[in-house]
Parts: sequence; C-alpha cells; structure tokens
Amino acid sequence: MTDTLFTGITELVTPAPGPQRGAAMRDLTVIDRAALLVRDGLIAWVGPDAEAPPATEKHDLGGVAVVPGLVDPHTHAVWAGDRLDDFEARAVGVPYETMLAAGGGIRSSIAATAAATVEELVALARPRLTALQLSGATSTEVKSGYGLDFDAELRMLRTIQSLGREFALTSTLLIHVPPTEGRDAYVRGVCLTLIPEAAARGLATAVDVFCEAEAFSVEETRQIFEAAQAHGLKIKLHADQFRAIGGTELACRMGALSVDHLEASGGPQIAALAASGTVATILPGVTLHLGLPAAPGRALIDAGAVVAVGTDLNPGSSPLFSTALALALAVRLNGLTPAEALTAATVNAAAALGLTDRGSLSVGQRADFLALRGPDWRELPYALGTNPVRDVFVGGVKR
Ligand code: NIG
Ligand code: FE
Repeated sequence: MTDTLFTGITELVTPAPGPQRGAAMRDLTVIDRAALLVRDGLIAWVGPDAEAPPATEKHDLGGVAVVPGLVDPHTHAVWAGDRLDDFEARAVGVPYETMLAAGGGIRSSIAATAAATVEELVALARPRLTALQLSGATSTEVKSGYGLDFDAELRMLRTIQSLGREFALTSTLLIHVPPTEGRDAYVRGVCLTLIPEAAARGLATAVDVFCEAEAFSVEETRQIFEAAQAHGLKIKLHADQFRAIGGTELACRMGALSVDHLEASGGPQIAALAASGTVATILPGVTLHLGLPAAPGRALIDAGAVVAVGTDLNPGSSPLFSTALALALAVRLNGLTPAEALTAATVNAAAALGLTDRGSLSVGQRADFLALRGPDWRELPYALGTNPVRDVFVGGVKR
C-alpha cells in the first residue's frame, strides 16, 4: 500500500464536510505548518506537520497554502459557434432577453451545436474544461441544453460522458428553451422520451430547467421535474435570472438539489431557500457580463441558506473560464466574506451536485486539493486576472 505525505504546507484551510448553511459557512479550520496523508486517493490523515505519521512517499510542496479543490457546480461548457455578435450588440444596449425573444442569443448557439458531431464538441469543450481545472476546479458539472432536438441533446450528453474520463464531470440534462412552435408537444416529448432515454442510458444524474418568462413556465417546469423524479433523476433549476415567477418556490417544495442564478430573488425566494435543503447557487459571472443585479448572496447566508458559487461558463451570459475567479467575484459582487466564498466553492458546490464525498480536507474525503502560489490562502479570493493556483491534485495525483 502506497501512501503519500504532503508537507511544506504553510497553512491548510478547509470547511467541514457536507453542506454548510448560514454562519457556519464562515467556520474554516486553519492548520498552520500542516501535513496531509493521502492513501488510495482519499485523505487518510491531516494535522500539524510535527505530528505527521510515517509514510512510504513524501511530497514537499515547498511552503505554500493548501485548500480543497474547487467544485464548479454549474457550467454549459459544451457548445459550438460563438456569441461575439451578441456581445457587441449588448455593448450598445440590446438586452439579452430581447435577443433571445427575437430568436437569437441561446437559439444561435443551439443551431451551431445541433450541427456539430460528438467528436467536434469534445474538441471544443476540452480546452474550456482544462482552463477550469487549471483555475482549481477538481470536479465540474456540465449541462446539455444547446441541442433542443432530442438527438442533439443526447449527443451533448455523450460528449460530457466522453470527457468525463479526463475530467471529474457530473452530467445534467438541461431543458433550456422551448421550440418556437409546438411547445406542449415538446414538453410531452421531454417527459415521455428524452428523460426516460437519458435515465436509461445513464447519461445524466439530474435534470435542470430554465424557468423564466422567455423560457419554461412554472407549470411546465413542474411536469418536467415530475418526469425526472419518476425516472430516478435529481432536479435542479435556473430561476429568478430576470424575474421571480415562482420557480424557486416550486424547486424548494419538490426537493431540488439547487436553484441557480437568483439575480431577481427577493424576500419570499430567500425565505424559501433558507427553509429548505436546496442549495442557492450564485453565478457572479452573469452579473459581471450581462450587467444584471447581483444575486443576494449576503442576504441568503444571513437568512440561513446553503450558498454555492459557480462560473456558469457559457458563451452567452458568462464567458468565465476560471472557477477561482467566480469565487473571487462572489466576494466583490455578492457580499460574501472570503471564508464564505471558499465554503461556497467547495463543500456547498459539491452539495449542489448531490456529492458529500469531496470539498473538505478531512479524513475519508477525496484527496482533491490545491497548492496555491503563495503562503496565504486569501490570495485565492483576492487575486483577479492572475491564477493563484499553482498545482491541482485530484485523488492525490497532480494534474
Ligand atoms: O445559465 N439563462 C439561461 N441559460 C444560460 C445562458 C445560456 C446562453 O446564453 O447561452 C445561463 O445563463
Ligand atoms: Fe446556466
């Protein structure tokens, strides 16, 4: 049996395992001059260097801070084409919702993605996932949703499955936008054909819906969620991005893993999330890129919710290729403290994917961790536009 003792750690900083809500999000454990023992990909011991047990191998990290690997709980990393025209149009004031309602925006990504093969999509997504990993993401969720027609959706899910061998990915079937004609038949097909097929082939662990005036209604979302749960899939939701139309409350009632976006959430939505086990996932890249109001991260934590943060990496609303930068932006835009942001990007982000085996540097957890570039972990929430992460370890192995 090989075990590796990691030393040369100025400080090891971690939240406790499992989802943390409210004030507990600030309770980090800090071990100065620490060591970390990894056995079979899991953490076997963690504590002060002076008390470290013997090990067959040693790895000196050279005097830097160590934190858990980040979990990016919300990306649309698989797409073809680009949205550079949208970017220019928005810069002169055309709103995102207007482009979507006029058949552009997401629909242009759908046209390009539906025309691409699995091999092409894999080649396009690989460098994006590599960028997220270099920024500290050791687990990443990826959604379908640029397929629209069911064959194209299944091609997206197969793309995610194939990249899942290189990156630790969680795959989500996203029901993104309704077709311009025949939306009732589309929702029926999603429930009776697409969800059963994705579930039977093991292509997704959850179903997500974009619940918004320009996308699916609360009632359509409810039908899709029921079908997902009937086929053993978890549920997640895009809600309150532009308007709070009731999706958040529905998702909390139905036991969703997470509700994501929340830029337009107010008191009732914050209360519903705080009273539930559903994770509130904030996506500050969208606030930055679309100039939307920031999701009420501070109010959600103060109300007692479990808050997570992710990039929402996608071509239209958040071309943010750094999970570490999403964490750093949550401090600036959503009012999180640095400690809360670390918890949001690790154990709470894992909980948003239904995962409790990662995100904390404690015994029994996956040995997913980051060696930063300097001795103080706060460089991670502090740095903007430079990568504070030096080495990324997944299951104790350097990537
Ligand atoms: O999470 N809001 C809906 N879906 C994505 C954006 C997709 C796109 O614009 O291509 C989001 O922001
Ligand atoms: Fe999204």
